Amino acid sequence: MNFPPSRTLRSPAHAHAPAAADAPRAAVGQGLLSTIGQTPLVQLTRVFPQAHFEFFAKLEAFNPGGSMKDRPALRMVQDAQAAGRIGPDSVLVESSSGNLAIGLAQVACAMGLRLMVVVDPKVTQANLKILRAYGAEIDMVSTPDPETGEYLSARRKRVAHLVATLPGAVNLNQYANPGNPAAHREGTVSEMLDALDNRLDVLLVSISTCGSLKGARLALRDRGLATKLVAVDAAGSVIFGQRGPRLLPGHGAGIIPEHMDDSLADAAELVTDADCVAGCRALVRSEALLAGASSGGIVAAIHRLQHQWPAGTRVAAIIPDRGERYLDTVYDDAWCERHFGGVPEL
Ligand SMILES: Cc1ncc(COP(=O)(O)O)c(C=O)c1O
Repeated sequence: MNFPPSRTLRSPAHAHAPAAADAPRAAVGQGLLSTIGQTPLVQLTRVFPQAHFEFFAKLEAFNPGGSMKDRPALRMVQDAQAAGRIGPDSVLVESSSGNLAIGLAQVACAMGLRLMVVVDPKVTQANLKILRAYGAEIDMVSTPDPETGEYLSARRKRVAHLVATLPGAVNLNQYANPGNPAAHREGTVSEMLDALDNRLDVLLVSISTCGSLKGARLALRDRGLATKLVAVDAAGSVIFGQRGPRLLPGHGAGIIPEHMDDSLADAAELVTDADCVAGCRALVRSEALLAGASSGGIVAAIHRLQHQWPAGTRVAAIIPDRGERYLDTVYDDAWCERHFGGVPEL
């Protein structure tokens, strides 16, 4: 059969289209850890209907371990490897039972490293199961520190003991490790600013180790931006001078982290457990976004602060994790009834 030369069949537009074999392929990553970072930034328009401001959310639940803590977990391990602090016989020892522990368990598992997580009896069963599934070893302190009455200091003392006595033990210590803010400076916040063409008036960051807050401050400084940085902390957290009971994990801290200093945030907003529930419930109802407690705190803080912002203000926030780990608290009506006498609303 005689076919005319394909050239003659093509319109000029087709002539420039790549042949199928040359078509760009979807990128293929190298293993699970290559999927950490480059999370979506989305504009949310329903949670604040008729808002006079724009609201953008960085969805960190899209990291494979389910939270923004995948980033510092990976970064701290890579930095320690590059510095020769970690070898095949090392045991990572970390005091955390939350998202950092899960992020680290995932990284350690993927890299074939041993991880021992020091937890206390307040750890949730769900998180214990996730940690065990990744192969992390669990070291549970059973009593609070007799000097302070707190589990946190008991866990820190246990880590110090393990580092001193366990051969190969390495403590990355997210509260002081520069890889923690660096992961957010070069990752989370840089990605947000790139996507927004550096046009951002207000950035809200919920805090615990203050790694993401410090990373945000450094990224804004790197670009010479005057964006107002708002730290959202749990009422009762010691970071802004309080000390009180807190029900929901994630944000808030029982010690002032080494990363924190007064020059980081332009403003601070404290949110209660009830605020977090109200914000989370509003977020899932309006946007179908099932997020963790601290994300609800961010929404509650925006709800409170919005009246200060002129029309057209561009607001963004890091949404640190997803809601599945809070099904027995934030999203449980009976739990809300017990603690707040009903389901709180914004
Ligand atoms: C859900 C959640 N929100 C907020 C934070 C606070 O982040 P950072 O430790 O960077 O201050 C954390 C930290 O673990 C977290 O897990």
